[in-house]
Amino acid sequence: MTRFIRQTVLVTGGSGGQGASHVRAFHAEGANVVIGDVDAVRGAALADELGDRARFVRLDVTDEKSWESAVSVAEESFGSLGVLVNNAGVQNPPVPIENTDASTWARILDINLTGTFLGIKAATPALRRAGGGAVVNIASTMGLGGTALYAPYVASKWAVRGLTRTAALELGRDRIRVNAIHPGVIATAFINEPAAGAAAPIADFFSPAPFAVPRLGEPADVTRLLLFLASADASFITGAEYVIDGGLQLGPALQHQ
Ligand SMILES: NC(=O)c1ccc[n+]([C@@H]2O[C@H](COP(=O)([O-])OP(=O)(O)OC[C@H]3O[C@@H](n4cnc5c(N)ncnc54)[C@H](O)[C@@H]3O)[C@@H](O)[C@H]2O)c1
Repeated sequence: MTRFIRQTVLVTGGSGGQGASHVRAFHAEGANVVIGDVDAVRGAALADELGDRARFVRLDVTDEKSWESAVSVAEESFGSLGVLVNNAGVQNPPVPIENTDASTWARILDINLTGTFLGIKAATPALRRAGGGAVVNIASTMGLGGTALYAPYVASKWAVRGLTRTAALELGRDRIRVNAIHPGVIATAFINEPAAGAAAPIADFFSPAPFAVPRLGEPADVTRLLLFLASADASFITGAEYVIDGGLQLGPALQHQ
């Protein structure tokens, strides 16, 4: 398939986990890919592996200057920027609100929310120069309800929803669509390794057994939805939110036996 031929896609947090899956899939569909991440070792290795149509750029999404250079790398290397995927995100250690440091709160909001805001801000002029494009923000099903012990993360992902809707309204007339994806529990280091300062990984809190589809999600599940939303097939979809969680949000599945 060649849905993204001659298009350039910037994926934040593109060095590993879901981001690397997204990068590989866009590349396989003909896109030029820019991998933006703080993890330069994995990011550069992925760009080398993909070859000509791939670049790594060291991008800390909390840093406005590094956003400017990431967008410049996309335009200078490939001529334009057509798609931005705000995928970089971090989890807080599981702690009740009363024991959550303000510095932890600020760090999670900075990366997950301010990083997404700075990305939209930096990419907008380039997307406009390209004649339009798509932004997809990776939020979370944890941004749809409450989750004990994860207040900074939950609040950051709720806020990404409001940002998504507002950006969609501001940018629609420029032919720039802005949507959000809410993944459920996806098997990456994010859930399988403890967040900084935590003793146990988040996977310890979740069993997929009660889900309607009783398995963890794979990065490729999210990738397929993302590519649809970023593609011309989704040209009438903006400001929308897509849950991809195997039915986790529905509650426990009825047991027949
Ligand atoms: N894995 C899940 O169960 C799950 C569920 C819902 C939502 N999400 C969201 O999906 C996105 C991707 O998560 P993942 O599962 O691939 O996690 P991951 O930890 O495997 O990957 C996150 C990537 O973001 C990068 N990153 C971290 N801080 C950064 C920064 N300041 N600037 C740039 N890059 C930075 C990391 O280096 C890493 O490559 C995140 O936004 C996460 O909140 C994950």
